[in-house]
Amino acid sequence: MPESVNRQILMAARPEGAPAESDFELVETEVPAPGDGQVLCRTIYLSLDPYMRGRMSAAKSYTKGVEVGELMVGGAVSEVAASNHPDLKPGDIVFGYTGWQDFALAEAKDLRKVDPAAAPISTALGILGMPGMTAYTGLLNIGRPKKGETLVVAAASGAVGSAVGQIARIKGCRAVGVAGSPEKCDFVTGELGFDACLNHQDPDFPAKLAEACPDGVDIYYENVGGAVFEAVVPLFNFFARVPVCGLIAQYNMTELPAGPNQIPVLMRAVLTKRLNIRGFIVWDFAEQEADFTATMGAWIRDGRVKYREDIVNGLENAPRAFMGLLEGKNFGKQIIHVADDPTG
Ligand SMILES: NC(=O)c1ccc[n+]([C@@H]2O[C@H](COP(=O)([O-])OP(=O)(O)OC[C@H]3O[C@@H](n4cnc5c(N)ncnc54)[C@H](OP(=O)(O)O)[C@@H]3O)[C@@H](O)[C@H]2O)c1
Repeated sequence: MPESVNRQILMAARPEGAPAESDFELVETEVPAPGDGQVLCRTIYLSLDPYMRGRMSAAKSYTKGVEVGELMVGGAVSEVAASNHPDLKPGDIVFGYTGWQDFALAEAKDLRKVDPAAAPISTALGILGMPGMTAYTGLLNIGRPKKGETLVVAAASGAVGSAVGQIARIKGCRAVGVAGSPEKCDFVTGELGFDACLNHQDPDFPAKLAEACPDGVDIYYENVGGAVFEAVVPLFNFFARVPVCGLIAQYNMTELPAGPNQIPVLMRAVLTKRLNIRGFIVWDFAEQEADFTATMGAWIRDGRVKYREDIVNGLENAPRAFMGLLEGKNFGKQIIHVADDPTG
């Protein structure tokens, strides 16, 4: 790409249900020049995350959404291309929410330096970044794992779920994963060391999940909602904990599912089993970031936590990869490789 062109991906229309290619538009603009105190970032890796579907919606949420015609939001690892700030110099590697584009102007205070000597820089988007911290804080603060307990987590080969199960095992739990294909399940047990993994596409999934949890479920780390949650509810033990992290099975939903109202069944379980169900957003635990970075960094160095990245080449392929992420086509943390990695 010529250095004078900045490709940007905008939200062209609000999706109705699952996003389509026509909801995105690639435009070419000029590369901006940094003003006083500003930094010009060249995107190397762009993170794709399920929360972006929420930002594309008009529904009120915990943060401001994207308007039609605006740049798609997203975190990225970038190289500083030019700097008018004393704390950052050209060649530094930084993380920031700089969006779906080749180049971005940013304030130095909104960027965090990434140390290429500590780990591959792409990990700042996954296991050592927001998804890893989501797994760590949600599980430890709300799930409160204890030795000998059983944890269930879905999207178990993905960015958050893969870390949740491995941390639970470090804490002495039995970790049962749920994933969307036999290949993902083999990876979750074979590579990540979960005790079991069930395919939620299997027609006998509820019975197989029950078989894999002979002592019931003490922690259900909620990543998906829908049919997986329904299969877990009858298995809850007394005083089970449910960190509600995400509901990806619902993000493309345009109307409530048909069928009987299940809320009375759920509320009876909440009461009689004394369930502790708590939603959270990772930044509720922002003060634990340094602890997370040190602990997770050590676990990765010791080989106690493994991670998988699904890297797609080319900014222009971000919309398709994002649509795939919402359908389970990714296998590991979804990342777009936008420009050459100068550290790798
Ligand atoms: N609360 C927070 O602060 C926070 C922060 C980060 C992420 N999250 C949430 O955490 C969850 C996982 O995010 P991630 O970044 O780690 O993504 P990910 O797991 O890497 O990718 C998403 C996965 O969701 C699964 N999935 C999609 N539709 C599904 C369905 N209908 N039923 C069951 N599984 C389905 C697919 O895996 P399978 O093919 O294995 O089903 C897909 O690969 C999301 O719900 C996300 O919104 C929350």
